[in-house]
Amino acid sequence: MLEKKIGLFFSYNSIIISGIELRNNIRKMDRKTYYIITIGCQMNKSDSERIAAYLEEYGFSLSEKREEADLVILVTCGIRQSAEDRIYGLIPQIKRDNKNAKIILTGCLSERPDVIKRVKDRVDIWLPIKELDSLADKLGLQKINEYSDYLDVVPRYESSFSAFVPIGNGCNNFCSYCVVPYARGREVYREVETIIGEVEDLIKAGYKEITLIAQNVNSYFAEFNGKNIDFADLLKMVNDLDGYFWLRFATSHPKDMSTKLIQTIARCKKVCEHVHLPAQAGDNDVLKAMNRRYTIEHYKGLINKICEEFKEQKPDALPVSLTTDIIVGFPGEIEEQFEKTVELFKEVKYDVAYVAQYSPRYGTVSAKMEDNVSAEEKKRREDKLMCILEKTLAENNKPYLGKKVEVIFESIDKKHGNMIAKMRTAKIVKLPNVNDEKLIGKFGKVKINKIDDFGFVGEIVN
Ligand code: 5AD
Ligand code: SF4
Repeated sequence: MLEKKIGLFFSYNSIIISGIELRNNIRKMDRKTYYIITIGCQMNKSDSERIAAYLEEYGFSLSEKREEADLVILVTCGIRQSAEDRIYGLIPQIKRDNKNAKIILTGCLSERPDVIKRVKDRVDIWLPIKELDSLADKLGLQKINEYSDYLDVVPRYESSFSAFVPIGNGCNNFCSYCVVPYARGREVYREVETIIGEVEDLIKAGYKEITLIAQNVNSYFAEFNGKNIDFADLLKMVNDLDGYFWLRFATSHPKDMSTKLIQTIARCKKVCEHVHLPAQAGDNDVLKAMNRRYTIEHYKGLINKICEEFKEQKPDALPVSLTTDIIVGFPGEIEEQFEKTVELFKEVKYDVAYVAQYSPRYGTVSAKMEDNVSAEEKKRREDKLMCILEKTLAENNKPYLGKKVEVIFESIDKKHGNMIAKMRTAKIVKLPNVNDEKLIGKFGKVKINKIDDFGFVGEIVN
C-alpha cells in the first residue's frame, strides 16, 4: 500500500495494486488474452472494469497469469512518485517474463511527455483512457461498436455485489500539488439518465452497495427534464430508486460541500454513515498555497454540520465516521503550520486518514516551489498524525461494543477461517468460524463482541 491507514477499513482512496480478477471467466485456448494491472484510485479501478469489458467485446478473455497474456494493460497513477515508480519497475519485469506480450499503457501517465520519452521503446500502445474506443484500431481489429464516451462501455464489474459508478471524470480545481487535472482533463459529467440507468441495472442484478465516484462529486451538474440538477439532487434520485442497497460517494471537495448536500446525505436512508472529506492541511496559509480555496474554519464548520445533521436525522445510528486525506511537508510548511494539522486531528477525531508525504509532481504549480521539508521530517509528521489517529480511532470504536449492526458479508479469510464483513460506517468486522460462501454479497446482522488489533470481532445474530 502506498498510503498509510490505521485499522482495516474500507478505503475509497487507497492506492491499489492488483491484477483484476473477473468472475466466471472461462479461458478458451483459441482466444487472445489480457491481463490488467491497476495502480491508483477507485476511478482507475472503474476504468479497468471498462477496459476489460471492451476487450471482451472483441473476443479477448482474462488471463490468470501476466506471463501468459497477449496484452498486458497498465492502468497507471501519477499522484505520487512512488506510484509512478511502480510502472518503471513493472515494465521491464513484464517484458522479461512475457516477451510476446503487447504492453498497453493507460491512466494518468499516458499523456506525460517525460514518461513517454522514458519508456517509449518498451510500451506498444499508448492509450489515454478517454480514447478507449481507439483501442480496436490500434490493435488492428474490425470495429464492432462505436463509443463517443468511454464511460458508455458497460463495465465488467470486479465484484458481484459492490460497484463503483462514475458520475463524471476530470477536475477543474488545480490544487497546486495535484496532477489529476492535467492527467484527466477538465470536468465532464454524465447525464442523469445514464447514471440512473447504470444503477438500476446493478440493483436488478442484485448489487448491494453502490459508490458514486468522481474527482469532485460535489461539483456535479446536469440538466434533467428541463431542471438543473446538482449532486444533492442526483444522490436523492439514486437513493429513491426501488430496492434496498447502500449508497456511498467519493470524493468531496470542502469548497463545494453545500448545506443542502449535507442535509441530503443525512436524510437519505440508503446513504451510509461515512463521509470522506479531504482536508489536506490544517493551516490557512498552507491551504492557500495548495490552492484549496477554503479556510480551515470553513472545513471544521462542515464537519460540525455533518455530525449535527446525522445525529438529528439518524439518532439511532452509530456516529458518522469521518475520514480524510492529508499531505505533510508541503513546500514551506513550517512546524507551527503542521501543528495546526495536529490540532485538526485532535478536534475532528478521524476514523481513518490517508496521510501522504508531499511529492513534487511534473507540471504542477507546486513543483516549481522548493521541496524544502526533509524526508525525515515528512516521516516524523506522518508518524505523529498516525499516532493521534490510533488514539481517536480506539475512542471512536468504543460505542460499537455490544451493538448489533447491519453488514455486508464480503469475503472469507480462508487462512484464519473468518468471514470478513463491512458495516455502513465502512468499518470491518471479523466473524470467527463463519465460512459459508453463500453469505458473500448478502446483508446480515452482526453483534460486535470485541475490539482487537484487526478492528472488530463479532458474531452473526438475527
Ligand atoms: N504529494 C502527496 N500527496 C498527494 N496527493 C495528491 N497529490 C499529491 C502530491 N503531489 C494526495 C492528496 C489527495 C490524494 C488522492 O493524494 O491528499 O487527496
Ligand atoms: Fe487533485 Fe484537487 Fe482535483 Fe482532488 S480536487 S483531483 S486534489 S486537483
